[in-house]
Amino acid sequence: MDVKPESLPKHVGIIMDGNGRWAKKRGLLRSKGHKEGAKTFREIGEYAADIGIKYLTFYAFSTENWNRSPEEVAAIMNLFREYLEEAKEREGENEEKQLRLRFIGDKSRLPDDINALIKEAEESTEKHNRVFINIAINYGGRAEIVEAAKKIAELAAKGELRPEDIKEQTLSDLMYTANQPDPDLIIRPSGEYRTSNFLVWQSAYAEYVFTDVLWPDFTCDDFDRCIQIYARRNRRFGG
Ligand code: FPP
Repeated sequence: MDVKPESLPKHVGIIMDGNGRWAKKRGLLRSKGHKEGAKTFREIGEYAADIGIKYLTFYAFSTENWNRSPEEVAAIMNLFREYLEEAKEREGENEEKQLRLRFIGDKSRLPDDINALIKEAEESTEKHNRVFINIAINYGGRAEIVEAAKKIAELAAKGELRPEDIKEQTLSDLMYTANQPDPDLIIRPSGEYRTSNFLVWQSAYAEYVFTDVLWPDFTCDDFDRCIQIYARRNRRFGG
């Protein structure tokens, strides 16, 4: 990686897309594509942390993904289970790496056992402060903003917040990513040019890099290329 540390993005978001097409091309079940995608997720997460990316947010399951077949949803849930079980075994390693795990999204619709595992993973890493990994599950960017609006309305109704005191920061503080910097770079593989309800509030000034590579084929070299493209761009923040 020949990008100077100061030119690296602090926060990278990744929309893990293309698992289904990867499987179809090989005549395999879609679930096999997700399995490969989960491997890529582990590899890229580790690699990004190693090269000094401090915040990473992976889009693993959207609020719309419940419309997939029950078999496919169950297969993805199993991959979450496997990863969370593994996180328990890796407690020592997570501590050594000071890796903090957070699951963002509306977790109320997830199976109870997954919620219990999530709680364990979040609690066992909550004091870690070098690498922050957010995994978005049953996440929707607009829903996140609606929830923030509800909380603001509640505070206002109780007389605890005046409308004139509502600032951009007020909303940022109510997002799942409170206290984290906004994403500088969002990567979307698989040749789709959409943002798909991912980090809607947080991505106001994000740079997007799109690539045709399907997520299961996405390598550390592809990640490097995305970082290099980002580093060459001149971010002006509207100034
Ligand atoms: C989109 O590809 C991908 C998903 C809906 C699931 C992503 C999930 C994983 C990569 C597993 C993550 C695992 C962990 C442990 C976080 P798609 O199915 O829409 O692909 P397609 O557009 O080619 O059909």
